[in-house]
Amino acid sequence: MSNQNDKPWAGRFTEGTDAFVEAFTASVGFDKRLYRHDIAGSVAHARMLNKIGVLTNKECEAIINGLAELQIEIEQGQFAWSVALEDVHMNIEARLTDRIGDAGKKLHTGRSRNDQVATDIRLYLRDEIDTLLAELKRLQVGLVDLAEREVDTILPGFTHLQTAQPISFGHHMLAWFEMLKRDAERLRDCRVRVNRMPLGSAALAGTTYPIDRAYTAELLGFDGLCENSLDAVSDRDFAIEFVGAASLIMMHLSRFSEELILWSSAQFNFIDLGDKFCTGSSIMPQKKNPDVPELIRGKAGRIQGHWVALVTLMKGQPLAYNKDNQEDKEPLFDTIDNVRGSLKVFADMVPQMQVKREVMREAARRGFSTATDLADYLVVKGVPFREAHEIVGKAVRYGIDQGKDLAEMSLVELQKFSTVIDGDVFAVLTLEGSVSARNHIGGTAPAQVKAAIQRARQLLAG
Ligand code: ARG
Repeated sequence: MSNQNDKPWAGRFTEGTDAFVEAFTASVGFDKRLYRHDIAGSVAHARMLNKIGVLTNKECEAIINGLAELQIEIEQGQFAWSVALEDVHMNIEARLTDRIGDAGKKLHTGRSRNDQVATDIRLYLRDEIDTLLAELKRLQVGLVDLAEREVDTILPGFTHLQTAQPISFGHHMLAWFEMLKRDAERLRDCRVRVNRMPLGSAALAGTTYPIDRAYTAELLGFDGLCENSLDAVSDRDFAIEFVGAASLIMMHLSRFSEELILWSSAQFNFIDLGDKFCTGSSIMPQKKNPDVPELIRGKAGRIQGHWVALVTLMKGQPLAYNKDNQEDKEPLFDTIDNVRGSLKVFADMVPQMQVKREVMREAARRGFSTATDLADYLVVKGVPFREAHEIVGKAVRYGIDQGKDLAEMSLVELQKFSTVIDGDVFAVLTLEGSVSARNHIGGTAPAQVKAAIQRARQLLAG
């Protein structure tokens, strides 16, 4: 049992906290990572209290210097975190008072841990969103560079994982770029709602001191205030929204991973991920496993789980703050750590992967990937599309039996299926012809891919 007197809130208690309950309810083990933002919030709060005359200049200075020293102590690993002091907020405040005496006891004037923790999380998440946006951008730059290098590389595009039509590898990479573009938009949009200040809401109803919230918000770089104190201390929708956005990032990386895994198999053999990003097997000497994308595919499930955890955490809570909300941190932190790590390793890995142009090209030449082009050719010659479809289907059937792709058939062979077919058909059946023909915005023609690269570069520069 702790002595009831060592808790900042122990005044009304006559018994100390049960030792197990103390450990069970403490959050310092994981919320200490908020220390920098907790200190920044306290500094701004102290300056505001000084401005409105609640703290003297001397007291304010003592608080700010004391907090700066504590920050150094924490960063040097010399700060003794105490479970008895529950969380990061009370740990820092108690140590500050140990160090500077009475002025430390005044810091919590007009404030509660309820608005303090909500403020800390928002400040922390704001920084982390900025880091994620930078990593996302690094991956996007890598994709655009790769797309530029491989504009003219042709691979089979798939639907149902069956060969569909030839496409530019650059076009394929830009598909991933587009998904990440929306992911970045979502993060930026979410940041707008994260960057509003709860501080000043105190426990739930506001405070009797003549606080200047706008001033504190300005010091902390908030774009605005949370305008209802009950809402400000209780809702965690901003964190749920962030984890939702993060889980879409992971979903995209997971799909991308799935392709990288398939492509690096001996059966596809389209790419080589590089030894640095793979591991071997302890029993099978020939193995080189694509662990990084596999792990990221796995982590996507975990992050989706965090979204479910958070939205469920919130859904039954009455206003205002409830201790349930302490459970917001671990899923949020784990999401941030894993998304950051996944983006980093992808941004490192993608530009280094080896693209096996010849293998891709050979694969595109198999599987009748230009069958649609032949049908379109017939349409141009006046055959209705449905008939053209039927004619080409028969030609494909013949090709399967003969072990020949369409471009490998002679003119005489092709003419058996339609007399409108002429010598000019072969231009249409080449991979380059097929790809270049899809020449409109969003299409795979190299000219379009180059234009898309220009647009992407402009966006990344902005
Ligand atoms: N550790 C708490 C949390 O993470 C801080 C707020 C505690 N407030 C309270 N009234 N017990 O939510």
